[in-house]
Amino acid sequence: MLGTDIAIDLGTDSVKIYLDGKGIVLSEPAMIAYDEQADKVLAIGKEAYLMLGKTSERISVIRPLTNGVISNFDMAQYIISSYLKKIGGNKVFMPRVVVSVPCAITEVEKRAVVDSISSSGVRKICLIEEPIAAAMGAGLDISTPHGSMVIDVGGGTTDIAVISLSGIAISQSVKIAGNAMDEAIIKYVRRNYNLIIGEKMAEETKIAIGCVYPRKEILTYRVKGRNALNGLPQAVDISCDEVLEALIEPAMEIVRVAQEVLEKTPPELMSDIFSDGIVMTGGSAALYGLGALLAKKTKMKVSIPEEPQNCVVLGAGKAIQYIDDMENKNYGVLNPLSAAY
Ligand SMILES: Nc1ncnc2c1ncn2[C@@H]1O[C@H](COP(=O)(O)OP(=O)(O)OP(=O)(O)O)[C@@H](O)[C@H]1O
Ligand SMILES: [Mg+2]
Repeated sequence: MLGTDIAIDLGTDSVKIYLDGKGIVLSEPAMIAYDEQADKVLAIGKEAYLMLGKTSERISVIRPLTNGVISNFDMAQYIISSYLKKIGGNKVFMPRVVVSVPCAITEVEKRAVVDSISSSGVRKICLIEEPIAAAMGAGLDISTPHGSMVIDVGGGTTDIAVISLSGIAISQSVKIAGNAMDEAIIKYVRRNYNLIIGEKMAEETKIAIGCVYPRKEILTYRVKGRNALNGLPQAVDISCDEVLEALIEPAMEIVRVAQEVLEKTPPELMSDIFSDGIVMTGGSAALYGLGALLAKKTKMKVSIPEEPQNCVVLGAGKAIQYIDDMENKNYGVLNPLSAAY
């Protein structure tokens, strides 16, 4: 195990770890269940997700990452060290780590990411900006003087970037992605049916029948919750067209920001993007019709790689090979890694 390198994608929604030579070895919700009275962690990852919305008052289930940055340091550190122990087993495991970070992150936020990982006994930490990792994970060759546009629609944020020569030419980030879509479904159901539903129910509905472009056939899904007026349990069947109505606003906001980035893109890079199209990654890229909507509004081709939710961690994994260059202070313009600690 000693000498192994790993890549980590610390997402708002999930933590993914890639082991060099093995592939993705861990993918768990970025959640932790905590007993406030006993000051004790009860569960992390999938087990914590199962408790979401079903806890008593003394237990809270929290996401230690908000919009891709650490909002609860101790909890984030706890999750990371538990997962590193899990993949390392009982062996001595002092990996070098590539970790992806949003490109709109401050120095303080970067430091928090580095500190949360370094306390788990790692030899070296290198950062890679998320859109760069997403592009590499999607299989794009980003080292040439050729523009590529990547839109990563995750849980907390949508990151949009134009990349050339292994660097970001222009980028923008908005806090509208999968979680905002779940919120939009919660609001819609409340407004139209006086029905209060939880985050998990909303996400299930989105994944089952969600769309932002009309589906060919009408699908329905039974949402269950509590009636806001009489407090009694209630279930209603809602159709994919209704979910479309709820989701179109956040989806159009994402499209609008993409258009803004395109407007600011230098003409030479723009012509490359026009011929290759836009690549969309992140878990929410799997939402039915998001690619079609973006293609229609921008008049560009949009492609979605297989397993879009894994592109960032796979790309960070591919970037492991550049750690040696960073260590030799051989930074070079074409190194996709942005900093070493
Ligand atoms: N089939 C699907 N249809 C729609 N949304 C989906 C689907 N599968 C996953 N998602 C959504 O993808 C999001 C998670 O994506 P991803 O794993 O890329 O996020 P993340 O990297 O943890 O978050 P971020 O990049 O914002 O920090 C969740 O909101 C989830 O509901
Ligand atoms: Mg992500």
